[in-house]
Amino acid sequence: MATQLQQDSDLEFVSLSSAIGVEARGINLSAPLDDATGSALRQAWAENSILLVRNQDLTEEEQFTYARIYGDVAARIKPPVEKRAFRADPDNPMQMVTNELDDEGKPVGSLGDGEMWFHTDKCYVEKPHRASFLYAVEIPSEGGHTKFASLYNGYDQLPEALREKLEGRKVLQMYDYTKTEPGSLDQPLENLLHHWQPVFVTNPNTGRKAVYISRLMSMRIEGYSDDEGRDLINAVADIVEAEDNIYEHVWKPGDIIIWDNLSCLHARTDWPREQRRTLRRVTIEGEALI
Ligand SMILES: [Fe+2]
Repeated sequence: MATQLQQDSDLEFVSLSSAIGVEARGINLSAPLDDATGSALRQAWAENSILLVRNQDLTEEEQFTYARIYGDVAARIKPPVEKRAFRADPDNPMQMVTNELDDEGKPVGSLGDGEMWFHTDKCYVEKPHRASFLYAVEIPSEGGHTKFASLYNGYDQLPEALREKLEGRKVLQMYDYTKTEPGSLDQPLENLLHHWQPVFVTNPNTGRKAVYISRLMSMRIEGYSDDEGRDLINAVADIVEAEDNIYEHVWKPGDIIIWDNLSCLHARTDWPREQRRTLRRVTIEGEALI
């Protein structure tokens, strides 16, 4: 149900699904926002994990201005300069998520094609990105959706026995995956970005707990063998990825979504390879997790 936020404002929030997500309506992000509106948007995002605004027409600079409402824009950790023939400035933190190729057949952006499993961004560094934004520029006629799963609900729905096994433990998050397969533990970790994070993370904005595990990037659970850890990770992922814990977004150009990397996972569905899909991605700096 829509709720009117302020009498003198057109801003209203409409739930996207019973599990996760909210849409803000009556707002133009290319114009400056007052403090009260910024604070209402931050609160809605933190409580609902993802916040959608439709029908926006944003320059890169306007997208950065909107992003700064939520925190400091993060630099890219490993900018793939070789893939960025389209961009003269290698320090630009804006990432083009696209399958577009240049005249020589080289990718002009990154994360090009295809399905990608549920994960959360930069979980494998000490201070993961707090939030990520996607702004839709060009969208295929079918597929290429982004799915979001609530890690708050995942925590709340853990069976008691599983919660006890994970309580107070850490999880090894690792950057060695393909889009649809976890990495290998059969190699020296020193060569890979990896970090031991708390399994249960308390959200700094809401005080709620979330279970910080994904099938794609979580690799070990502290105190268990590799096989036991994988079983625990899969048991959590089965709960988190349940259909009734997901909102699936069907993009239209002009949609912009910010999500909370501490309280949701995201995944994407496949689409016809010959169709172009381009979104502009920005991320927000985060802190060490508690
Ligand atoms: Fe991602």
